[in-house]
Amino acid sequence: MNDLKRLYQRYETAIECEVTSILRSGWWLNGVAGKRFSANFAAFIGVSDCILVANGTDALELALRSAVGLNDEHGREVIMAANAGGYASCACWHNDLIPHYVDIEQGSQLVSVRSVLEAASAETAAIVVTHLYGGVVDVRAIRAGLAEGGLSHIPVIEDCAQAHGARIHGEMAGSLGDIATFSFYPTKNLGAMGDGGAVVTSNPRFAGHVRQLYQYGWSSKYYVGLPGGRNSRMDEVQAAILNVLLPDLNSRNEQRRAILGRFKSATGGRLKFVDGGDGAVAHLAVLLCDDRDAFRTFMKERGVDTDVHYPVLDCDQIGWAALPMKGTENLAISRASISRVCSIPCYPDMTSDEVEQVCKALGEWEAM
Ligand SMILES: Cc1ncc(COP(=O)(O)O)c(C=O)c1O
Repeated sequence: MNDLKRLYQRYETAIECEVTSILRSGWWLNGVAGKRFSANFAAFIGVSDCILVANGTDALELALRSAVGLNDEHGREVIMAANAGGYASCACWHNDLIPHYVDIEQGSQLVSVRSVLEAASAETAAIVVTHLYGGVVDVRAIRAGLAEGGLSHIPVIEDCAQAHGARIHGEMAGSLGDIATFSFYPTKNLGAMGDGGAVVTSNPRFAGHVRQLYQYGWSSKYYVGLPGGRNSRMDEVQAAILNVLLPDLNSRNEQRRAILGRFKSATGGRLKFVDGGDGAVAHLAVLLCDDRDAFRTFMKERGVDTDVHYPVLDCDQIGWAALPMKGTENLAISRASISRVCSIPCYPDMTSDEVEQVCKALGEWEAM
């Protein structure tokens, strides 16, 4: 699905130079590389604050904790989709919050704005929107709907782990809600060479909370100012690598979009690509197909790997069956889609021969 060696080879000289300099400096955590990357990334997204953390799941957990707090003045439910890999659900339960699942739109596989607004109530502590597969949820429409319903106090958290650089109506994912989270897992549109994550916001109160929570709740070294903190630092080596890769994020997103565009032109009958909107960044190329097992075997026989993002809805995970959750009876589209979604390789370092090989296989399937 992804050959990350190619990414390394492309940036080898710059990365080795930066990483060697970090190692030689003897300063491996909370140093200059992290400061530089958090400033650059905040500027890229268009927010005032970026706090680097250890991974995207921690980012969600800490963003939720900072936005909702440990009080239950406004209820304990968090509205979210059930098809987004389980990360937001995980973050919820780590905060003693209750996922309230709502349905998605079939064509984009993104959470349905209408369902979010119908579910929002006095019991809602927060809304997490996942910009899945590189597509972008219309956060402005959610916020407008909340305001109309007298619920504008509900914070909207954007999970941008699959949407670095994605836009909607010209606006950047990560700048639309109250607070947003990123993962820099290696396969992401902006990926580190290990784990990494970030919380971004222009709300100084939330930023102040996360800045304490990611390091034991410290207000200053060894002095705890907030409960609920822990260690979730990103190391300097990862920050230095991300600094090398960030300037090329937009152009590499363009390459992803061009590859997805080629795939789309080879399909349109039996296969339909999930469409995340004009500003989507093709994190994954996801198809909806009726005979998924046969399709995957067919592609494999033609040398093309496939994967499923994701095979189980959060609410149907066996290990989470006993945990509190709501909304599971209203997920008709999510349930109908879970057996149909199928991802095919789509990453900027694919060769044009590989892209054509995928197109040929897609065309043969369509013609059957
Ligand atoms: C949508 C989404 N949210 C959150 C995460 C969690 O990120 P991480 O793997 O860095 O914890 C991921 C990724 O893997 C993701 O795809």
